[in-house]
Amino acid sequence: MATQTRNHDSGGNPSLWGASVKPPVYPGLDEDVHVDVCVVGGGIAGLSTAYLLTAEGRSVAVLDAGAIGGGQTSRTSAHLSNAIDDRYAEIQRLHGEDAARLAAESHTAAIDRIESIVQEERITCEFARVDGYLFLAPGQREEELERELSAATSAGLDVQRVPRAPIPAFDTGPSLRFPGQGQFHPLKYVTGLARAIVRRGGQLFSRTHATRVHGGKEARVETSRGPVVDAGSVVVATNVPFNDRVAIHTKQAAYLTYVIAAPIPGGSVPTALYWDTGDPYHYLRLQKNGNRRGSKRELLLVGGEDHRTGQAGDSEERFLRLESWARERFPELGPVEFHWSGQVMEPVDGLAYIGRNPLDDDNVYIVTGDSGQGLTHGTIAGILLTDQILGRVNPWSTLYSPSRKSLRAAAAYAQENAKTIAQYADWLTAGDLEDTGQIPNGRGALVRRGLRKIAVYRDERGALHEFSATCPHLGCIVQWNDSERTWDCPCHGSRFRSSGRVIVGPANRDLTQLKAP
Ligand SMILES: Cc1cc2nc3c(=O)[nH]c(=O)nc-3n(C[C@H](O)[C@H](O)[C@H](O)COP(=O)(O)OP(=O)(O)OC[C@H]3O[C@@H](n4cnc5c(N)ncnc54)[C@H](O)[C@@H]3O)c2cc1C
Ligand code: FES
Repeated sequence: MATQTRNHDSGGNPSLWGASVKPPVYPGLDEDVHVDVCVVGGGIAGLSTAYLLTAEGRSVAVLDAGAIGGGQTSRTSAHLSNAIDDRYAEIQRLHGEDAARLAAESHTAAIDRIESIVQEERITCEFARVDGYLFLAPGQREEELERELSAATSAGLDVQRVPRAPIPAFDTGPSLRFPGQGQFHPLKYVTGLARAIVRRGGQLFSRTHATRVHGGKEARVETSRGPVVDAGSVVVATNVPFNDRVAIHTKQAAYLTYVIAAPIPGGSVPTALYWDTGDPYHYLRLQKNGNRRGSKRELLLVGGEDHRTGQAGDSEERFLRLESWARERFPELGPVEFHWSGQVMEPVDGLAYIGRNPLDDDNVYIVTGDSGQGLTHGTIAGILLTDQILGRVNPWSTLYSPSRKSLRAAAAYAQENAKTIAQYADWLTAGDLEDTGQIPNGRGALVRRGLRKIAVYRDERGALHEFSATCPHLGCIVQWNDSERTWDCPCHGSRFRSSGRVIVGPANRDLTQLKAP
């Protein structure tokens, strides 16, 4: 795999997006502020919510621990789609026909809303309307497509069956065509959103880690910098809420998903979104990208190979498998120029959790469980939470309620939680290595010392950084991710940089440092 410059946001391998646009960094919060709404998290969900609230004249402060858009929004493949990941047939089975109709309506409305914001704010982000094609993975039967066609049609979508997706060199076999999908450059879009929020009087604060959220009539967010934000409402849009320690995390599971991008001769793959029906499925799209000489070439993005975070130690093999899958189908593909992975939160019943935090707190809202559709789910969150905060009725409230119980998803719930509980056995196993001398530069490994497991990282200069391997969320043992150079928790998906710094929750503090170099 080609060497890439190391990245420092939510993964070590820079994504195609992060390599072409640096997410904006705003000043940190240096004094207390009082606003109508405090949004924690400056990814697409938080910024869409902040943007729509400022458009309604509300005063808003957005806090982000890092740069704006530097979370999973910078790691995406940026398909904007109403062809639901878990399939309409499954949404119908779990939630009923009316709910499937509302789900279709909400994702369609999200793409429309992104398009209208792009036009209104003149955001140059390469937004385009494209078709989407769902084709069968090897060994799958045509009835699968028929069932999906029937479910998507009864959900109100104008989907057609076609003999094959329109790729000359790759005969996909029968496919479903979903018209009216979209694609864009996600970092250019969220940069445009951030600027529009500031133009409307909103305040953005980077490098401001929210440490605690207190609900109530006068809600409050505490930050690691000291100053606090007092607000009428708080939206926790951190991808995974850190303010809810257990309940919501048993209803979703963290998965890593992988992407490669390589040049392909112009016109050999028509511009469209593509997915197969595998589990995990492959996803594809095209993106124009400038080269050093300033001309633009077409890159094919190919994604897939998902697995539970922290539960597979073979990231490099996964990138190679993606590449060989792509080369078999697209022999004209050039050398891989980008490869990266990121995390998606899979809800047990296929729909995001957007709304009031179920646990406590009046006036505290969460957005999570975004699955591979976090860009539309994040935009749905903006629309839905704006209505809820302003006291307006929204027809999607029940569908996305974080408090919902999905009895028909009991099997998936039991299966995912069994995989989580099994991770506590890591306490009893030996460490990966006997001693730190075996760790090469730039790598991490677990080492057992007596009853303790130590997460040890040897930096590029050879200095050792030692941390407790115990995840500060609920005590699982973190695992080294050799590709992204992160410590990943196999239980609920908390991830930490090699420096021990928390990237994504539910943990809300760093790994405990035992030895600094
Ligand atoms: C490889 C890959 C492919 C994908 N493909 C698609 C796709 O094709 N279509 C699609 O719709 N979705 C896709 N997704 C999912 C989608 O990209 C994400 O779900 C979405 O970007 C998440 O947005 P967000 O705003 O919820 O979270 P994020 O973008 O992660 O933003 C959360 C922000 O919160 C900040 N934060 C966290 N904790 C704190 C704290 N305590 N205090 C302050 N700030 C904090 C972080 O720094 C971060 O900036 C994909 C994801 C991946 C990884
Ligand atoms: S994320 Fe829950 S124990 Fe680590």
